Amino acid sequence: MPNKRIKICPWWMGYTLLLPTRKLFNDPFKLLSPYIKDGMAILDYGCAMGYFSIPMAKMVGKNGIVYCADIQFKMLQKLQKRAYRHNVSDNVVLLEVGFNYNPEKLFNKLDFVLLFAVVHEVSDKSELFKNIFSMLKNNGIVFFVEPEGHVKEYEFQRSLNLAINEGFIKRESRPIRNSLSAILLKETN
Ligand SMILES: C[S@@+](CC[C@H](N)C(=O)[O-])C[C@H]1O[C@@H](n2cnc3c(N)ncnc32)[C@H](O)[C@@H]1O
Repeated sequence: MPNKRIKICPWWMGYTLLLPTRKLFNDPFKLLSPYIKDGMAILDYGCAMGYFSIPMAKMVGKNGIVYCADIQFKMLQKLQKRAYRHNVSDNVVLLEVGFNYNPEKLFNKLDFVLLFAVVHEVSDKSELFKNIFSMLKNNGIVFFVEPEGHVKEYEFQRSLNLAINEGFIKRESRPIRNSLSAILLKETN
């Protein structure tokens, strides 16, 4: 159900999400390496300036690909520059929601989807989970994380229920400081 009070993280806040101190509690390699393997196809939905996208591009290597989707073009512009600087621009694909992001084109192609601090900003959460379900391969994984300060436990649970309604199976994730998190599995057999 669309929610009119939803606020989107302003583009300039993207810089604060890149601060090196964030690594103390959101270390991309520690958080994501249990799920990511060489050659995987990944979607970083709500990627902002790529705090997680760039490390994920390094983790999947030359044979993998990271699709980076965001609704704000300025976030993607900065991400593109960072991808060049980190030498991963060949396996980073930028997708602007409302422009060239088309879930149908990624049907059954993804191994892993990261939803980090974005779902609470999306008005139609059911549609998001439905699209993600269709883009994942069987046995694909979603790592779903929300910031505790912005999202209440019952709101997180409500989003989880929407994901489960779209066919996902919920698993516990390892606890992340100041965050609510879960693993969502697509198992269709
Ligand atoms: C709080 S930031 C989190 C960024 C990133 N995941 C991180 O953890 O560093 C949320 C991001 O989601 C994006 N966003 C908000 N609504 C969106 C939507 N409907 N579709 C795609 N991206 C969206 C915002 O533009 C912003 O870049």
